[in-house]
Amino acid sequence: MNAIVVVDQIWAIGREGRLLFHLPADMEHFKKLTTGGTIIMGRRSLNAFVEGKPLPDRRNIVVTRNADLVPPGVEVVPDTESAVKAVEQDDPDNVWVIGGGSVYAALLSRCRRVYLTRVETVAEGEPDTYFPDLDHLPGWEIESTSEPMTDNGLTFRFVQYINRNLVPKA
Ligand SMILES: NC(=O)c1ccc[n+]([C@@H]2O[C@H](COP(=O)([O-])OP(=O)(O)OC[C@H]3O[C@@H](n4cnc5c(N)ncnc54)[C@H](OP(=O)(O)O)[C@@H]3O)[C@@H](O)[C@H]2O)c1
Repeated sequence: MNAIVVVDQIWAIGREGRLLFHLPADMEHFKKLTTGGTIIMGRRSLNAFVEGKPLPDRRNIVVTRNADLVPPGVEVVPDTESAVKAVEQDDPDNVWVIGGGSVYAALLSRCRRVYLTRVETVAEGEPDTYFPDLDHLPGWEIESTSEPMTDNGLTFRFVQYINRNLVPKA
């Protein structure tokens, strides 16, 4: 499986249940990569979608201790290990951990790659949710970095990290 995430310069990803940035170009990137695949998310991240509905054209797996809160079209699992079991038969390159902070933290070590959108600013206000700093985590290294892009007045790059603990150098 892989993770996909948008971070600011200090690895912040969210505030009060919401994303930190509105980046339509990044949304397109997210859609292109995840459509046709499986997405794994925490219940709070599902709530942040429009009307709390699952994303179309993807297998939506939601981790929650309370299955009653989840709308139709979503598969519920009671913990992150059950999410890993649920995707055993899926193409691992097409399984995406999409957040939020608690689910990234729990599943990062199972991810072969992280598709990261690095926004070249520090988000305003006081973020309350962070992604682990991959530049300081053993085994993680940058595999590719895009040229800078600008959207909605923000500059960002797509940075792909690889987990050498799971994908040793050839
Ligand atoms: N920047 C990005 O790319 C990005 C992407 C996604 C999310 N976000 C942001 O991240 C924030 C949300 O992250 P979060 O950490 O607060 O919430 P989250 O991970 O989205 O969801 C947390 C919920 O998931 C369930 N859960 C998680 N781990 C579990 C486990 N081991 N066993 C059982 N249930 C488990 C629980 O649901 P119940 O309470 O129902 O039991 C828990 O309350 C928001 O601000 C969101 O906008 C950012």
